[in-house]
Amino acid sequence: MRDMSDMPRARISRKIGAIAESATLAVDAKAKALKAAGEDVIVFGAGEPDFPTPAHIVEAAEAACRDERNHRYSPTPGLPELREAIAVKTARDSGYECSPGDVLVTNGGKQAVYNAFQALLDPGDEVLLPAPYWTTYPEAIALADGVPVELPTTERTGFRVSVEQLEEARTERTKALLFVSPSNPTGAVYPRDEVEAIGRWAVEHDVWVVTDEIYEHLVFGDNEFTSMPVLVPDLADTCIVVNGVAKTYAMTGWRVGWMIAPRDVVAAAGNLQSHATSNVSNVAQRAALAAVTGDLAAVAEMRAAFERRGRRMHELLSAIPGVACMEPQGAFYCFPSFVSALDRDVAGRRPGDTLELCELVLEEAKVALVPGEAFGAPGYARMSFALGDDDLEEGVNRIAKLLG
Ligand SMILES: Cc1ncc(COP(=O)(O)O)c(C=O)c1O
Repeated sequence: MRDMSDMPRARISRKIGAIAESATLAVDAKAKALKAAGEDVIVFGAGEPDFPTPAHIVEAAEAACRDERNHRYSPTPGLPELREAIAVKTARDSGYECSPGDVLVTNGGKQAVYNAFQALLDPGDEVLLPAPYWTTYPEAIALADGVPVELPTTERTGFRVSVEQLEEARTERTKALLFVSPSNPTGAVYPRDEVEAIGRWAVEHDVWVVTDEIYEHLVFGDNEFTSMPVLVPDLADTCIVVNGVAKTYAMTGWRVGWMIAPRDVVAAAGNLQSHATSNVSNVAQRAALAAVTGDLAAVAEMRAAFERRGRRMHELLSAIPGVACMEPQGAFYCFPSFVSALDRDVAGRRPGDTLELCELVLEEAKVALVPGEAFGAPGYARMSFALGDDDLEEGVNRIAKLLG
């Protein structure tokens, strides 16, 4: 064997060293640092509801803290009551019929995404990834040694991918499609016929679908959430549904999500999870149980507030000369194009891309946006409307003044 003792060895593995820092968290950190330094910063970066978790859910967690059963390890795939309740809730909300054994409770929807790709992909397997995409998807695919194949979309097609585009990108290495509607970061919602057409295409070509339904309750106006495996029942055996309590119940910090998947996937992902994290915190699971077995009154209120704010933000942004913005159909984000603000004088500087523009907007107008580069879409920025009405008005007005 060759003596390699004097060869320099990397401290951090290539795989982990290649992970990009989450741009959304980086913007958040910078904005918070400015705030801590006394600056009046308005933050459009948040990916979480600005409402508190409903009281009955918090009370369930308080009671769970005092119940000794919750002080011990519990089954890796989730508390049996919670898996059962998730199956019932899913049938109630999306019409997808599954049994508790098809449910794996995870540390947030994020771990469900991670587990899904770890369970499905072999090195070199390709995953079709419509862009703009949520920052975590390509990293989770790459961490599973998969290859994200980006499919660009723009506001001209409503940020929706077509079957033709999918077919054009399909190769013999295509293992899966990542589908999300309503979408982070674009706020796009696919109409029923398009969801069905994509599901049929996936079945026909034996392509798995990882479908992220985390924003299922946040749809506005005439837009309608539809679940792909409900519209295409034949997909059930090659489909992983990702969901969680974070966005629906204002519970981002509690870290409870789940996947609904065929039994072999649940078993494989559960094995992985048994070595990575064991069970999700029992107290958080009890809180999630109260959430999913309760009514949807709190989310109806949040949805109404988000819809009103989304309309207002869209109106204000559209009034800025050169800014193009699709009206959000769901979730809580606007995704305007700032292409026309690039390569021209803005406050004595010339931003060449949206990374530079967002930095300038933060420094000069004290407004934090997440640059489109973080979502595979240079030229755009993501603006969350999960913040108070006054801040929303003031923040967009500051941008208008800066660019005007
Ligand atoms: C599209 C999408 N999926 C999944 C998640 C994960 O949410 P969590 O891990 O907080 O449940 C998020 C959070 O931002 C998201 O935007």
